[in-house]
Amino acid sequence: MKKFHEVKQCRICSNQNLSLVLDLGEQPPANSFLKKQKLKKTELKFPLRLFLCKKCFLLQLIDIVDKKLLFSKYLYLTSASKPIVNHFEKYAQDIHKKFLKDKKNPLVIEIGSNDGTLLKNFKKFHVSVLGIEPSKNIAKIANKSGIPTKNAFFTSDLIQKLSLKRKATIIIANNVIAHIENIRDVMVGIKLLLDDLGVFVFEVPYLVDLIKKIEFDTIYHEHLSYFLLFPLIKLMRDFELEIFDVKKQKVHGGTIRVFVAKKNSFKVKQSVKDMIMDEKIKGMYDFKVYQDFAKNVNSLKESLFAELKLLKKEGKRIFGYGATAKGNVLLNYCKIDTKIIDCIIDTTPLKHGLFTPGTHIPVESTKIISTKGEGDVALLLAWNYQEEILRKEKNFRKKGGKFLI
Ligand code: TYD
Repeated sequence: MKKFHEVKQCRICSNQNLSLVLDLGEQPPANSFLKKQKLKKTELKFPLRLFLCKKCFLLQLIDIVDKKLLFSKYLYLTSASKPIVNHFEKYAQDIHKKFLKDKKNPLVIEIGSNDGTLLKNFKKFHVSVLGIEPSKNIAKIANKSGIPTKNAFFTSDLIQKLSLKRKATIIIANNVIAHIENIRDVMVGIKLLLDDLGVFVFEVPYLVDLIKKIEFDTIYHEHLSYFLLFPLIKLMRDFELEIFDVKKQKVHGGTIRVFVAKKNSFKVKQSVKDMIMDEKIKGMYDFKVYQDFAKNVNSLKESLFAELKLLKKEGKRIFGYGATAKGNVLLNYCKIDTKIIDCIIDTTPLKHGLFTPGTHIPVESTKIISTKGEGDVALLLAWNYQEEILRKEKNFRKKGGKFLI
């Protein structure tokens, strides 16, 4: 199996003249937590370089790790993160109210449906659902809990082979479009699958937030594309599809929810024009913004490392909070390992007993936080759940424990 390859052209518009924005060095895949017996073996590491297409403004990785290596066995369970469970509950209610309530016998299909957390909500409305999920272990969990789930990568070929008896009223894809190398083929699949009056709704992390809040740790091999609305409009146009609405969401450090339909079937809302204008005002179509971002990432690395070293010198015990993929990027890029951090705690049972890729920090259950307080510092690696975690861990803070965010 060839484990990775380098692409030479833009994933959306095929422009071959891409410009380097940031080089995060050689990194192990960010979710490849290790079993103890693997610690002594050489780990797989791949270059992690971010390029901008100055034609369609898609920010993208050019080093593509084999998708089977990244996604066939996956440790991320949607149901482990309560804020996302809540987000999905409201999301499903919203979609139901807007597009499904009056439909006869509707069908909702989700691409990258994980353990079925979102689809479960549609079942409450007696809507038929189908999940498509490439991770074998996770598709199994979904099927066991009563959400019919096909264990496969979503491709146009799969849709042809499935030859479903009816088309989808709604196709949903959350946090997955950015993970797919051949997005143009996904669009072919969506066109085949979507009912003439159906809606394709997807959520992707928003590049404006990534740049403005220096969320560089969300850049890793699984995330191949970092989207503004502009390149998405171009992509949809190529397939005679149309973005007719867009809404900002708070999840994952800033996300956009994009509504797409076949051309001319819905009235295009003002929200679409407004967001394009806002991207322009914020300088997102100007390379300087990206150069400044790269400089900011470098200073953040230096200041974080200096701060942790100082805490250590003061005799503080430092642990990580949230065994996240983004945490692994941060730790590897800033070279923070067991010399600085004792362990990382996380709510996902599947991650307990494993070690972080590259930095080899042990992952433990969140239960141990009850033994911590004065003199302990929690480096928040799951910063996307800051509100929830700070609320939950009041006791740790009362006992004198501090969060570093
Ligand atoms: P996630 O948001 O998927 O981040 P990434 O994509 O960077 O891996 O992961 C969040 C992790 O944080 C997940 O493993 C569950 C964990 N978590 C906690 O440990 N405590 C919490 O209160 C929450 C909300 C999440």
